[in-house]
Amino acid sequence: MGEEYRSFFEGKKILITGGAGFLGSALAHKLIPLKPAKIIIVDAMIPNLGGNLVNIRDIEENLVVYIGEDWDLRNEEKIKPLIEESDCIFNLAGNVSHIGSTENPLFDFELNLRAHLHFLESCKKCMQEGKEDLKILYAGTRDQYGKVDQKHLPVDESYLIQEATDPQGINKHATEFFHFWYGSHFGIKISSVRLTNLYGPRHVMNDPGQGVLNWFIRQAMDGETLELWGGGEQLRDFNYVDDAVDALLRIMASDKTNGEIYNLGSFIKKSGLYEHLGNNVMSVGKVAQLVVEIAGNGAFTSIPYPEDRKPLEPGHFYADASKLYNDVGWEPKIPLAEGIRRTVEFYRDNKEHYW
Ligand SMILES: NC(=O)c1ccc[n+]([C@@H]2O[C@H](COP(=O)([O-])OP(=O)(O)OC[C@H]3O[C@@H](n4cnc5c(N)ncnc54)[C@H](O)[C@@H]3O)[C@@H](O)[C@H]2O)c1
Repeated sequence: MGEEYRSFFEGKKILITGGAGFLGSALAHKLIPLKPAKIIIVDAMIPNLGGNLVNIRDIEENLVVYIGEDWDLRNEEKIKPLIEESDCIFNLAGNVSHIGSTENPLFDFELNLRAHLHFLESCKKCMQEGKEDLKILYAGTRDQYGKVDQKHLPVDESYLIQEATDPQGINKHATEFFHFWYGSHFGIKISSVRLTNLYGPRHVMNDPGQGVLNWFIRQAMDGETLELWGGGEQLRDFNYVDDAVDALLRIMASDKTNGEIYNLGSFIKKSGLYEHLGNNVMSVGKVAQLVVEIAGNGAFTSIPYPEDRKPLEPGHFYADASKLYNDVGWEPKIPLAEGIRRTVEFYRDNKEHYW
């Protein structure tokens, strides 16, 4: 699949849940040139998550925006009419903080599970009332694999979770199952993409629990010392936000992806051999070094692994994205160093809105 997926969106009505957040707003920016009939953004602006009106202020006239606590997925009365008029939905609303989900599992349950059941109930009602066609792409997470048996790296979609690292993985895994259950029972086309460590412009930057790389970028830009737990040897699979958006668009546009789960990741098997793309799988320590070099500021130091964080540590993680490559032609295009450079540049110009 080349670039032809782009024409799929022309004339479509598209709903993005969590659309004022990091990923949703990046998606909205990329959708506008594809000439959809309507892009609807819905976001409850849950405190301390990534919703930020600055994320969409330069494109607001191209969007229909429903922002604020009334526009919560749990509010079926408000959300159902938006589903009714949509051809496809990027269901990106959620809580991203792993640490937050451990400290407050009920909060995570509310946003990552219960809210989505309300959303799916609204979808069901639309279908029962005669809606003809609906496709939903759900944003899953690598956290659904929990603590991965290291001999299964890079992890592919068939890996079954054995040990959860935090409540978020459990909630999001259940929610993914619910999407497919509603899909098969009520005639909704469903796909899910399990995202890894995303980074880039418009990310929440005031919470160390939401994305280690973005937090490192902030610390380095502020001339602080980045702490590497246990030497920072853990490998992570980092994906630049534009690559993630490219995957969302390709999955939504293809019928082949209906009923399927996809990993986003940096290992892709081509002609039977794994290729590691973009140098995107890197130890946390090496990433810190790269960030400090590119930001031209900051330092890093190793500290013992904090006892309270050990249970959250999944071990090395990197994903096999061959299925995404084979089905829709996706592969990461932005190498890690380039992505960090673009991100630092963005925050140099926009720091006051994100710090
Ligand atoms: N950012 C990552 O590294 C990453 C990794 C894996 C998975 N994901 C998934 O991708 C999706 C998007 O993540 P993001 O980084 O853009 O997060 P974000 O925090 O920037 O955006 C999420 C948005 O969802 C909104 N929201 C949450 N619950 C809602 C509800 N019940 N009703 C309406 N709005 C609600 C929040 O207000 C927020 O603006 C999430 O589902 C997340 O779990 C992200």
